[in-house]
Amino acid sequence: MENTIYNPDYVKGLFNRMSTSYERMNYITSFGFSLRWRKQYIAAFKGSEQKVELIDLLTGMGETWRTSKQKFPNANITALDFSEGMLNYANTKNKKKFNSEIRILQEDVLNCQLADNSYDYVTCAFGLKTFNAEQLKQMAFQTHRLLKPGGQCAFIEVSKPENKFPHFMYALYIGKVVPLLGRLLLGNPAEYRMLWQYTNRFLNAQEAAAIFREAGLDVNYHSFFFGCATGFNGQKPLK
Ligand SMILES: C[S@@+](CC[C@H](N)C(=O)[O-])C[C@H]1O[C@@H](n2cnc3c(N)ncnc32)[C@H](O)[C@@H]1O
Repeated sequence: MENTIYNPDYVKGLFNRMSTSYERMNYITSFGFSLRWRKQYIAAFKGSEQKVELIDLLTGMGETWRTSKQKFPNANITALDFSEGMLNYANTKNKKKFNSEIRILQEDVLNCQLADNSYDYVTCAFGLKTFNAEQLKQMAFQTHRLLKPGGQCAFIEVSKPENKFPHFMYALYIGKVVPLLGRLLLGNPAEYRMLWQYTNRFLNAQEAAAIFREAGLDVNYHSFFFGCATGFNGQKPLK
């Protein structure tokens, strides 16, 4: 199981199959909170009119672009993901809503060859859970490598609340109700049940935060709405 579910080809297949329903289900699975969380997790970034360089890793369909553009209206945004299914939608969104300004790359982030010290900001929403500890180390290495000295990053992931009551409700909702909705509305409950399996193993972003700290970033951990989402901000030291 461990070997299969973290295998990049498996993860890519999962997101390719989910791409037709991801946006709607993402909204439903988070009770609509995902929109708010995507704003909150970059709240620590100080907005700027400068032409900053920003890369959104595991970009999916570009769900974070709007909030990043609100913060950095003149940013050059690069968006990276390896699922052609998700990127088909991202490309359409880019053309329709972003004047094709977003540079979209289809790559495996863990092996990406973009130049060192290229970005002022790295963002990544809801992508960490499909990585095991080794892959998280590689993700931290890549984030550190891609950031300019002084550059900042922000990560957020759906998490398992520690408190018993929210945890029970959340487990029931994501483990049972969401797959049922997946079946009724969209016809792919198995894929959505998998998301809970990943969340169940991921728990929260504490381990990831520690791994990013070890990679040399200054990291601050955050919890959102009783721990239903957790994440962290990081900064690459100037020296
Ligand atoms: C849950 S979606 C998140 C999408 C978006 N960031 C959001 O806020 O909803 C996770 C995305 O990570 C991508 N992904 C997972 N592992 C990857 C890897 N190794 N390299 C590139 N993309 C990856 C998947 O294709 C998927 O689109």
